[in-house]
This record gives sequence, structure tokens and C-alpha cells, in this order.
Amino acid sequence: MAINYSEKIPNNVDLSGNKSLQRALEHWQPGFLNWWSEMGPDESSNIDVYLRTAISVEPKGWAHFDYVKMQDYRWGIFLAPANPERKINFGEHAGEPAWQEVPGEYRSTLRRIIVTQGDTEPASVEQQRHLGLTCPSLYDLRNLFQVNVEEGRHLWAMVYLLHAHFGRDGREEGEALLARRSGDADNPRILTAFNEKTPDWLSFFMFTFITDRDGKYQLAALAESGFDPLARTCRFMLTEEAHHMFVGESGIARIIARTCDAMKEHKTEDAAKLRALGVIDLPTLQKYLNFHYSVTADLFGSEISSNAASFYANGLKGRFEETKLADDHKLHGSEYPYMEVVGGQIVTKHAPALTALNERLRDDWVADVQSGISRWNKIPEKAGIAFRFTLPHKGFHRRIGLFTEHHISPDGNILSEAEWTRSHASWLPTEEDRAYVCSLMGRVAEHGKFANWIAPPARGINNQPADFEYVRFN
Ligand SMILES: [Fe+2]
Ligand SMILES: [Fe+2]
Repeated sequence: MAINYSEKIPNNVDLSGNKSLQRALEHWQPGFLNWWSEMGPDESSNIDVYLRTAISVEPKGWAHFDYVKMQDYRWGIFLAPANPERKINFGEHAGEPAWQEVPGEYRSTLRRIIVTQGDTEPASVEQQRHLGLTCPSLYDLRNLFQVNVEEGRHLWAMVYLLHAHFGRDGREEGEALLARRSGDADNPRILTAFNEKTPDWLSFFMFTFITDRDGKYQLAALAESGFDPLARTCRFMLTEEAHHMFVGESGIARIIARTCDAMKEHKTEDAAKLRALGVIDLPTLQKYLNFHYSVTADLFGSEISSNAASFYANGLKGRFEETKLADDHKLHGSEYPYMEVVGGQIVTKHAPALTALNERLRDDWVADVQSGISRWNKIPEKAGIAFRFTLPHKGFHRRIGLFTEHHISPDGNILSEAEWTRSHASWLPTEEDRAYVCSLMGRVAEHGKFANWIAPPARGINNQPADFEYVRFN
């Protein structure tokens, strides 16, 4: 499908051939731009940022780099190329042709799935809106803004689906997506993790490493959907999501590298001494990891879920890499393990695999997070430092699911209220930790310079050097 660059909204969905859809989206666009100027990155309207823009869905052509002002970013609508032969690959409709229109009986469920995914996109932009004022370098500032404009595009992608397939209800949902606000007492974003603050760059890197990775798994499950427009939309979004996770993983790796350097140079593991040197001690990084990991684990939902079962049975949301799995793709008679506290002990039980699909997707995500942690651990290992990062137990600090009523330590022990109260400050960031991290955040915007608490990247973006002028102030 050709892309018409002369249109207001770049797209590969033949907007010009669908006048009522084009009118609906053009009507929504000013509201989006208002939202961007009100809730998008602070003080960003007058700068030129070296950004990639999706201008094609071809594997090598979708990332076009140039300087743009963010409010002029070409937020477009791109779906991965259609496969006219595509079938529904799982659930009770397996083998039928994929739906090109919303099946009436699943209309409200599909709308809810799309709205819930769509809501996270502007939410993260809102959470991150002040971070530009404390960037550790121009390279990092550019990466933050890249993530922000692409989350904006992901909102466009979901609103396109709502407008194209859900009529008036869809248009109302599109408006509501611009009206909710992260952290707002009266009209908050839908999911709890997207109402938390992202107050500093350590939180931002943890968020993009861990919470954008939840996004990857949700999108991957929706990319299997029997509703083909949703599947194709999510497939293309995944290509952008990879960069967000790279920003997080490499950001934390650079912080670890800088801290390990300081530890070696000053021959100390003492947190107070390291803080005096202006770097972030490794145990504090571990606490931030524990926090973001546990909050994000909740996003997958309850271990046992009848909603998850019906999403799957109805062909709406599949498993991660559904078509690569070798089973009946209906999950009749199969089971999946999950953990629960029974009689003061954590025990592994088995549930029908259909009802345990949230847990299964969470496990896929856990394994992926763990591989990132293992890559981080090579940094202290190479430096001859004994510290290793570990993931806390899945029951640690959970607010959703079977562990909600229990206090579980990172190593998986059940704690009394008193033990939890005594110990949680050594597992989760305290006010003091957060204040220290915030105290490091000062704007470094001279090109080629990096804040003291983070190492420069090994290489820049799009084969540019690390000291490239990624952002130009006018
Ligand atoms: Fe996104
Ligand atoms: Fe993302």
C-alpha cells in the first residue's frame, strides 16, 4: 500500500479513500495537538530534535532520521502489511479467516482491550513530561523525546482502530483518551502503574526497561489477534517498542558502568562514600529495580482470570508467539502452574491453562527481564565486583492477584506485618534514596557532555557519534 506524504496524516490505510474516517481523524487531531502542548514534554516547542519518523513499513525503510520540532512530528497511522490469507490461529475460531471487521459479539470486549492499551500511551508521555529539564545529556534528551513522540503515535494507532471500526462509541473513546490524566484524582489513567510518577531519569530508564517490556508482551499477544487490523497495528508498534527498551536497558547499563568505575577507582563499596562521589550505589539501583518490577508485574493481571480465558477462547488475544507454539492452540485439557500462599507457605498449583494466560504472559516477560539483568551483571563481573542484580520473588510487593494480601520478601519468605515494616526500606526506594537520586538530576545540555552519574553510550543513534548534536536549541 502506498503512503501519501502530502496528507495531513501520513498513513498506509488509504485515508484519502475513506472520507468519513479522514474527517473523524482530522477532527480529533487538533485535540491531540492541544493535549501534546499541554501534557507533552515541558519546554520543548522551540527545539529541533534528531528524531526518526516512521514513513514506511518496509523492514529497512521505516526509520527516517532528521531534525524536527516535536509538535511538527508526523504522527502517522501505519499497519504492518496485510496477508490476505491470514487465519485466526487460536481459540474456538481457529482456522477461520481473520476478521477484517469487528465481530458483533466481541465488539465491547475488543473496544475495551484497545482503549486499555491506548490509554497507556499518552499516560507515559504525561509521566515523563518534566524529565527533559533534567536530562543527563543531549543524547539522552533525544532518546526521551523519541520515546515520547512514538508513544504519541501509538495513541494515534489505537484511535485509528476506534474511529475506523467502532463508530460513534469509538469516537467518544478517542476523546476520553485525551481527557484522562496520569495521576489525576478525578480522571486518572486506567492502569495503576501509569498513574505513578516518573520523577527522575533512573525511574525513566527502569520504566522503559521494565514497563515498556510489559508493553512488548501485551502488544505481542494482541499482534496474534483474530481481529486483523488490531494484529497488524500492534505488529508495527512492536518495531518502535524495541528502541524504548534499548533506551532503558542501555541507560541502566551506563549507570552501572559509571558506578563500577567509581568503586574501582576509589576502592570502595560504601554507599555513603559513593554517594559523596555523586554516583548511584548498586543497592539503590536494585531497590529501583524491585519497585518497577513489582509494579509492572501487576499490569499482567490476576494469575487466574476468566477474562483472559475468554479473550483467548474468542480469538481476541493470543499467547506470546502463538504461531510458534506446538500444541492444539485451544488449550483444552492442558494446565499451567502458578503460585499461591496456602497455610503459611508458598505452594505451586496447577490451573486450567486457559484461565492462567495472564500468568503465562507474565512468565514470558519475567524471562525477558531476567536476560536483561544477566547482561547488566556482566558489568560488575568484568570489573571484579561481587555485586549481582537479582529479580525479587514474583509475590514481592504485589497489589494485584493472589499475593495481594501477603507480604513476601524478595527471596520468597512470607513475612508478618511487623517484619515487613522493619525490612521494606532495604528492598524498596526510601524517601531518602529518592531524594538522593533527585539531587543528581541537573540538566546537562552541552553537546558531548554527560552527567557525572552515567557513562557515555558506546555508540550514538543512527551511526552518529555519542557527542553528536542530537538536540538544537533555538
Ligand atoms: Fe507504546
Ligand atoms: Fe514504549
